[in-house]
Amino acid sequence: MSRLRITGGQRLVGEIKVGGAKNATLPILAACLLTPHECIIHGVPRLKDIEVMIEILVTLGAEVTWSDSSVTVCSRHLSESRVPEELMRRMRASNLVMGALLGRCHEFGVSYPGGCTIGSRPMDLHIKGFLSMGAKVKEDGVIEGKVKKLQGSCIYLDFPSVGATENLMMAAVLAEGITIIRNAAREPEIVDLQSFLCKMGARVWGAGTDKITIEGTSQLGVSEHQVIPDRIEAGTHLVAGAVTQGDILVSNTRAEHLEALLSKLGEIGVEVSNDSLGIRLKGGCSWRAVDIKTHPFPGFPTDLQPQIMSLLALANGTSVVKETVFESRYKHADELRRMGARIKVDGRIAIIQGVKRLTGASVEASDLRAGAALVIGGMAADGVTTIDNVHHLDRGYERLEEKYLGLGADIKRIDS
Ligand code: UD1
Repeated sequence: MSRLRITGGQRLVGEIKVGGAKNATLPILAACLLTPHECIIHGVPRLKDIEVMIEILVTLGAEVTWSDSSVTVCSRHLSESRVPEELMRRMRASNLVMGALLGRCHEFGVSYPGGCTIGSRPMDLHIKGFLSMGAKVKEDGVIEGKVKKLQGSCIYLDFPSVGATENLMMAAVLAEGITIIRNAAREPEIVDLQSFLCKMGARVWGAGTDKITIEGTSQLGVSEHQVIPDRIEAGTHLVAGAVTQGDILVSNTRAEHLEALLSKLGEIGVEVSNDSLGIRLKGGCSWRAVDIKTHPFPGFPTDLQPQIMSLLALANGTSVVKETVFESRYKHADELRRMGARIKVDGRIAIIQGVKRLTGASVEASDLRAGAALVIGGMAADGVTTIDNVHHLDRGYERLEEKYLGLGADIKRIDS
């Protein structure tokens, strides 16, 4: 078990380069199961979640090689269509292989996936979509799907679920006929999946809007693709730069993927601008309280809600945050309170009364983004903060402490 030890009060100064998007890479790796030909993916981040997905592909019979930041997958002979429970439990996104397996092998078997403890996270939308494409799905501790041949269908998602949209896109590329997904998720990672699928010969259009159309095909070929930069990693660095009153350039990022955050940072009083090299940020020393409501893209991302709460904890006045995507995503609030933050949580609402300073404390990361919020809080706090359970951070951030150390933070990993 590792922990981080942070001595707060250092400004972050310099350039920080963002890696490839975890949440784009995961479905793209799953999509490699659709074709018997070789797929090459560039810009793959070295993260625990990516390692788990690769282990799943290998278990299913794919050959995978990883060199620097490029991963080559060849799914010529798939020997399995069931994912062992132990792997499913390690990450929620393991469910992303269901659609590709149904399309390619006409069956899948998975148990309920694990992942961050941020809410109940059911799978009904995925399953309803498979059913409407003609699959039979049995839920009995494990989820098993079977179909002779998937049929194109019109699917309306009750909620624009990212995972359900991706799974249904992957199932539909090898279905007979046309599938239309309405109220589809519009996240940039969905657009990236579409471009990867199109490169292997799939016919998919509309990603980035709420209507995605897929015309099924019987054969798919090779695909080579560069993954988009991780917008949540970029957003985390921007908030870290702001709260440490830093002066940073966040490079390898796309401002159009971060509009909701950039606009909130502006309202808070943080100076941000973008140019051809990336997003530049100068953190002032006083911040205005703001209200934030999380939403599916292009709204304010739930995956940045914990991090911005660390900044709002130090703003002048009272901020109100409403979490509309996940039902219990406020575990970081308890830990920030240990550092002196004044936060009241009532259901999906958090009321944050800004304080003058945070004080270092011993805290615990309950999940990936909560961990990032505590790193940010620790860098802003007076004194020493120790964060336990940093394995959560390694699921989604590559060498986070090394990156912040390079910008001047006093941060150290202690392995015990
Ligand atoms: C993805 C992201 C995750 C992000 C989330 C929301 C990946 C690997 N993970 O997760 O980082 O926080 O989007 O932006 O891309 N829901 C249902 N039924 C379903 C599916 C979802 O009710 O069948 C609900 C969930 O409980 C949740 C909401 O929909 O309340 C959003 O979930 P979803 O968009 O599916 O998130 P993930 O794809 O799991």
